[in-house]
Amino acid sequence: MIRDGTVFDDDHLPSTIVGRNRHMNEVTDALAPIQEDVRAENCFLFGPSGVGKTTVAKAAVRELRQEVLEVPYAYVNCWQDYTRNAVLEQISRDLVGAALPRSASTGQLIDRITADLDGPGVVILDEVDQLRENKVLYDLHEIRGISWIGIANREVDLLADLDERVTSRISVAYRVNFDTYGEDAITEILSRRAREGLGPNAVDEDVLRRIARLSEGDARQAIAGLRVAARMASREGLSAIPGRLVEDAVADAEREVRQKTISKLNTHQRALYEVLTEEDGLIQKELYAQYEEAHEDPVTLRSLRENHLPKLEHYNLIDVEWDRGSKRYHLVGVDHTAPTPQS
Ligand SMILES: Nc1ncnc2c1ncn2[C@@H]1O[C@H](COP(=O)(O)OP(=O)(O)OP(=O)(O)O)[C@@H](O)[C@H]1O
Ligand SMILES: [Mg+2]
Repeated sequence: MIRDGTVFDDDHLPSTIVGRNRHMNEVTDALAPIQEDVRAENCFLFGPSGVGKTTVAKAAVRELRQEVLEVPYAYVNCWQDYTRNAVLEQISRDLVGAALPRSASTGQLIDRITADLDGPGVVILDEVDQLRENKVLYDLHEIRGISWIGIANREVDLLADLDERVTSRISVAYRVNFDTYGEDAITEILSRRAREGLGPNAVDEDVLRRIARLSEGDARQAIAGLRVAARMASREGLSAIPGRLVEDAVADAEREVRQKTISKLNTHQRALYEVLTEEDGLIQKELYAQYEEAHEDPVTLRSLRENHLPKLEHYNLIDVEWDRGSKRYHLVGVDHTAPTPQS
């Protein structure tokens, strides 16, 4: 039944972007000056998880590269590369193909990119709210030719601790806001994936619609649900996905997506997650105290509150409840009556 499993991979860039024409146009408009060999406008994409931000950014750059041959392009995931040097190293590798020694200083990295970049180039800064040293936005501003697309969940998280020199630059950037998908858009996204990835007649519209409904506007969740349902049906030797598998498949997919997200957490987020695995339902002060014990190089309460806790919430790993003026944190999807799994 599964003809091409890669179309269900998270980093698969689909040939058609469903229901995001306005967003695509706004991003391609921002990039348009590059066609005239001029630096583009920076832009920001904001929105919840699984609404196509990364996909739209990459698809807009793909479109640009179809128009203008060989525009230098870099993709940085700031969740993994969160220091100034890590970002610049990634950009230097992708954009100008220069591998500098690991010991290269910030100045050397900037000089190298500046010297080798000949004309405009584009950088996607994904999960830019996870940057620990956002001065790098200022560095990028100073490098002639570079424009960037920054992706984050909420504008407030991003602007919380930006340097004034940086904010004065980014206040001119385009902002594109994404909302969650409706059921029709998700069903259409699923239907295209099914056509590409599964055998003919492997799934009917009604089943896709049910997966879409259970995925609550999150395309990543929906695609994972379809993949798990196809796998379950294959194991039973079926050539089509029966409706009875949908609920279990979506629940399993939710666990799989969550597990994958947990594996990407940085040490602070992981320590928080582990503290809550030990003792669920802590208020912020208690959570911070235990985190501070558990982490060898703890960040401030403010950084925890403005950066790491919102990230865990955004990826649906924790739930927050207000309890007499305090925020109380719970793990999502963990059965607290059973022994807690170690992750
Ligand atoms: N409009 C779309 N058309 C086709 N596929 C889409 C569309 N939007 C999202 N997808 C698919 O859904 C999945 C999640 O999308 P994407 O990674 O772009 O979400 P995101 O908004 O960046 O989420 P996060 O904030 O969690 O990183 C990807 O596999 C992507 O291919
Ligand atoms: Mg993304």
